[in-house]
Amino acid sequence: MILVTGGAGFIGTSFILDWLAKSDETIVNLDKLTYAGNLQNLAVLAEDPRHIFVQGDIGDAALLAQLLTKHQPRAIIHFAAESHVDKSIHGPGDFIQTNIVGSFQLLESVRAYWEQLEKPERNNFRFLHVSTDEVFGSLAKDEPAFTEQHSYEPNSPYSASKASSDHLVRAYHHTYGLPVLTTHCSNNYGPYQFPEKLIPLMIVNALAGKSLPIYGDGQQVRDWLYVDDHCRAICRVLEAGTPGETYNVGGWNEQPNIDIVHTICDLLGELHPAASLDYRALITYVADRAGHDRRYAVDAHKIERELGWRPVETFATGIRKTIQWYLDNQDWLNNVQSGAYREWIETNYHQRSV
Ligand code: NAD
Ligand code: DAU
Repeated sequence: MILVTGGAGFIGTSFILDWLAKSDETIVNLDKLTYAGNLQNLAVLAEDPRHIFVQGDIGDAALLAQLLTKHQPRAIIHFAAESHVDKSIHGPGDFIQTNIVGSFQLLESVRAYWEQLEKPERNNFRFLHVSTDEVFGSLAKDEPAFTEQHSYEPNSPYSASKASSDHLVRAYHHTYGLPVLTTHCSNNYGPYQFPEKLIPLMIVNALAGKSLPIYGDGQQVRDWLYVDDHCRAICRVLEAGTPGETYNVGGWNEQPNIDIVHTICDLLGELHPAASLDYRALITYVADRAGHDRRYAVDAHKIERELGWRPVETFATGIRKTIQWYLDNQDWLNNVQSGAYREWIETNYHQRSV
């Protein structure tokens, strides 16, 4: 079996659903269920013995020791993190605690478990760390995309905390020989993404007839990848990646934010026309994000060349599926917009519009 951390979040959910659709190998899912974790995402697996859910913190060494001894996983896929850049600007503490201290404690627990394994289990074991392209910093307009060799220049508390965890993972390989793999992925989108992030926030606000807040001039560029493609990349790296290596994962799909929002508005106009409402008219330019990275772009040649992975979804097909999913799952959307969510929207957006 494998142990997944953060499997009740956006990407972890897709990973688990995709994995169990293709394989009967059991998953132990360790998730703290922060505001971003939602067991409702995995409701179809409630009676499925191949999914063992454990609510807990990656930093809980006693729990980790117990889970590792009991289940003897052959691999760890480490998704758990605080993941929202704006939240890290308002309050970095949780990011330091989970992304750095929590990842360190997880690595310690895993190292103790791995060191007592017999060969060949010890050689075959893998620790796959799910990282981000943001650790490389920001690119100028005409600079080449990030390769795996790009220097680290994290600019937000979020990306700095992810960079720190990357360094720890690397050091555990270099010093102790732990067989680690690290992936650096670009911006994901798709079903189950919490509506604090750009794409689901724009869909939710548009459906409610609320303004669509564009930070700064809206010309910041991101490379968007459909979440299932990311999950396929992780499976491929787990299966065939070389321990100690890092792999970039991207969609070959750079777009300015404003273009993404225009596409969402136009698709909503087609899939969910609202009488007398032009969704584009809701677009509102607001104060920029502090330290906002201008451009991310991922060079994903290595994973294609060495492991044969390429995205299969185009942005046109992926964004249409995504919008349709949110239209079909308005109960899910209503459920995640709790009091805490409304407080966050107030905290992050009130001052910007002022
Ligand atoms: P998410 O915020 O949707 O989910 C994070 C999950 O981790 C939640 O289920 C949460 O409950 C859990 N969690 C948080 N702290 C925990 C702790 N201390 N112990 C156990 N569980 C905890 O995040 P996501 O968007 O699914 O991202 C998953 C991973 O992928 C993160 O490591 C993120 O840095 C990375 N990543 C995300 C993107 C993206 O575009 N979303 C792109 C590249 C990399
Ligand atoms: O690049 C990978 C990263 O992508 C992941 O590591 C992060 O976990 C993930 O959150 C994402 O980070 P971003 O900051 O790029 O994503 P976000 O959806 O928050 O914002 C995307 C862009 O849209 C960014 O330039 C900021 C802008 N934006 C965002 C929001 C929420 C707006 O203009 N308005 C908004 O209201």
